Amino acid sequence: MINFQKLWDKSGTKDDEYARQYPQYIKTNEKLVSLVDVRPGQVIVDLACGTWMTTEAVLKTCPNVRKVYAVDFSEDMLRVAKTRIKAENVAFIHADATDLVGHFPEKVDLALCNSSFWQFDDRSAIIRAIRTVLKDGGIFVFNLNQQFYDFGAPEANQKVIIDAIYEEMRKRGFEVTGGLKEKMTKEEIEELFASAGFTLAKTARYDVGPRSLDDFLNFFTIPATATFFEKVPERAARNPEHSP
Ligand SMILES: C[S@@+](CC[C@H](N)C(=O)[O-])C[C@H]1O[C@@H](n2cnc3c(N)ncnc32)[C@H](O)[C@@H]1O
Repeated sequence: MINFQKLWDKSGTKDDEYARQYPQYIKTNEKLVSLVDVRPGQVIVDLACGTWMTTEAVLKTCPNVRKVYAVDFSEDMLRVAKTRIKAENVAFIHADATDLVGHFPEKVDLALCNSSFWQFDDRSAIIRAIRTVLKDGGIFVFNLNQQFYDFGAPEANQKVIIDAIYEEMRKRGFEVTGGLKEKMTKEEIEELFASAGFTLAKTARYDVGPRSLDDFLNFFTIPATATFFEKVPERAARNPEHSP
């Protein structure tokens, strides 16, 4: 099984470079934050905060939130995040999302989770952990991408490109692994959340546009995102004619 924590711990600098250059994270974060009413005085958790961008989008929308607790299990991602955000109302917390209790001195109004939910192994534990730190009436907002959820829309080019990479790898005799999770259904998601006492308040589908090949090639230089190449030796990755 792939140890994603180790991979994210090698990804801080690359992920940050990618996230600042290409629109993917900027757009998903802007959209995610726009779905909730962020107000002055609120206490917010940015779950799996990565290098900075969700917290940044929150502060752009409402600089006077009382506190953002930005949580991540990767020290390297937090290292970069700390160089990006110096605001006094942000506290960085090194913790696994399954283990939030005791990390904040107060209950929170909102928990936000951008571009990460599908990566979590123990989603039930994470949802229970979020429920425990939210105030009554608190809101959890997260997103899923088309690779992990069937929106009933035409396949985005991301999926088309990833499927093409898989096909090429299989043709060349490489084993496709990579820890990509199964797609989730709406029923599974609702069941998961209902078991922790959540009710689904709202869903929205949005399109962040096609991704360019240049965007993709850079995306796969982030160690934690290119896991399906793990069984491809470096020399083969650089030589298209190579087979195992
Ligand atoms: C794709 S990045 C997303 C970063 C950020 N939310 C953004 O929008 O820029 C995924 C992040 O999830 C973190 N992560 C993955 N699993 C986690 C877990 N179980 N607990 C805490 N953080 C986790 C990784 O360390 C990484 O920083």
